[in-house]
Amino acid sequence: MLSSLRLPIPIYCSNSSNNNNNSLISPRQNRRLIRNQTPGFPNRLLATTNEYVEVKEYETTEQLPEGLQAEAMPRHVAVIMDGNGRWAKQRGLAPSAGHEEGVRSLRAIMELCGKWGIKVLTVFAFSTDNWIRPRVEVDFLMSLFQKVLESEMEKFKREGIRVSIIGDSSKLSPSLQKLINHIEETTKNNSRLHLMVAVSYSGKYDVVQACKAIAAQAKDGLIQLEDINESLIEQELETNCAEYPSPDLLIRTSGELRISNFLLWQVAYTELFFAEALWPDFGEAEFIEALTSFQQRKRRFGART
Ligand code: FPP
Repeated sequence: MLSSLRLPIPIYCSNSSNNNNNSLISPRQNRRLIRNQTPGFPNRLLATTNEYVEVKEYETTEQLPEGLQAEAMPRHVAVIMDGNGRWAKQRGLAPSAGHEEGVRSLRAIMELCGKWGIKVLTVFAFSTDNWIRPRVEVDFLMSLFQKVLESEMEKFKREGIRVSIIGDSSKLSPSLQKLINHIEETTKNNSRLHLMVAVSYSGKYDVVQACKAIAAQAKDGLIQLEDINESLIEQELETNCAEYPSPDLLIRTSGELRISNFLLWQVAYTELFFAEALWPDFGEAEFIEALTSFQQRKRRFGART
């Protein structure tokens, strides 16, 4: 489908690293290597400005539900998948049952994103602050991530889904880190949908790790104080592995009205939608409601239009 669409102007940046040795490296280092090897560098999107440019092409694979417009779809949707525990408690079950149902909802939303032309889906699966939850729940979630990532690998390949895991992976088990490297490497050329899963992630963590990376470059004399700007910081944020690093729409389920330390830098101009449904109950109808609300917003990015 061909239509006219107003989008923020991309800022491009060159990158020259060519290191192919990805053994014994952390998922974060591996993501950097993948990013640097991405075809199209230096022409890849690193940040956006508040200005607009006309973009002529827009792809969708299937017809959208009535009322939704292809040219006004968000490119990047982020989700705080909240309410699994309450969903389970309402049924007299352990939180683990809610998390398992949450995986079902995630699969359904991924499917819809792929069908409706949403290019990036970022989900908050485990916060740096969730490590203090009961050991049994943390262990369950870690094994659930491992199980789901392993079992869905073929589907990701078959359906053109690229997977990245963002967050402090040094806290994850070596086997999970290895699996993350493998899945990121295996799916890196897929482009139908980019699923970013935030595990052991927080917005503050991301800003701190970006500051450390920039400080290291300054210490090594690679950059000067004057080189530090928004674009440089954005390059170092973990979401920069995605073509569209900042969400257009952030959905939080379960009626809570908080950002809870999710993508703090990246949500500067994101439209927020708070759904009453608990995450396991969030399905197609609720997603359409969020997208309809998004399409009715007038995004100004600080301008007077
Ligand atoms: C928040 O609900 C949800 C989580 C902490 C975990 C979400 C994880 C999944 C849905 C699994 C995703 C799996 C993969 C592989 C990405 P909560 O437990 O805080 O709910 P509550 O506020 O009702 O207690």
